[in-house]
Amino acid sequence: MTSDPMTSDNTIVAVDLMVEHHNTDEVVRALDPVSLTVEGGTSVAVMGPSGCGKSTLLGLLAGLALPTAGTVTIGDNAVSELDEPRRVQFRRHKLGMVYQADNLLPHLTVEENVGLQLAICDGETTADAPREVAEVLERLGIGELASRLPDQLSGGQRQRASVARAIIHRPSVVLADEPTGALDGRSAQVVIELLVEAQGKIGATLVLVTHDPAIAAHLDRTVELRRPARAQEPANAG
Ligand SMILES: Nc1ncnc2c1ncn2[C@@H]1O[C@H](COP(=O)(O)OP(=O)(O)OP(=O)(O)O)[C@@H](O)[C@H]1O
Ligand SMILES: [Mg+2]
Repeated sequence: MTSDPMTSDNTIVAVDLMVEHHNTDEVVRALDPVSLTVEGGTSVAVMGPSGCGKSTLLGLLAGLALPTAGTVTIGDNAVSELDEPRRVQFRRHKLGMVYQADNLLPHLTVEENVGLQLAICDGETTADAPREVAEVLERLGIGELASRLPDQLSGGQRQRASVARAIIHRPSVVLADEPTGALDGRSAQVVIELLVEAQGKIGATLVLVTHDPAIAAHLDRTVELRRPARAQEPANAG
């Protein structure tokens, strides 16, 4: 979809990904086999009923968990084959994540939360870092809130800070799990517009989980997951 060499290492290829949890008395299928390619620099909304494996899928793409079967490749990184230290490195440098609960560190200000992500990625604080943080906060419309703590912000403002944290290090891939789930319709639209604009600016690939078709409409396309078959049952033919 894009021939921009800047985005050529951003393509996500998931092949036959499947997850089963083997508990003591049962095997729970968390994700039915799914294959998915997201071209570098494009965006996909993942939808489907509660429990169908949307968060499980994002966790696999992030290398936070490993699939029972199948592979994840992001650019040159065979994410599902890497050992844990390499997956940590991959996440640090290549990934930005936005969670439903914003996960901001409560004792750090907005600018410190966002700056920390940059420092973790760069391994040191550069002289440019404060300016980069200020620019991103400004772009997201929370410039004047930089020195506030998370609990001094509204839900929408916290989500904007989370988006700032997810893009500040210019990741190849942004993964967002119901990033606007706690917001009213108008605030949700604003946060999504800001996220998609930022994604376009840095040329990142975006995978976003949502239950809201109005949110999904902002992205390039939608992928629908189905509720997994019970793992104990024979696999469906076809
Ligand atoms: N550690 C676990 N052990 C057993 N089952 C699990 C485990 N983690 C998740 N599951 C199950 O896997 C399925 C998929 O979970 P997942 O969180 O990916 O769903 P989801 O599509 O994100 O749902 P929601 O829309 O409610 O967030 C669910 O049925 C869940 O109960
Ligand atoms: Mg979920």
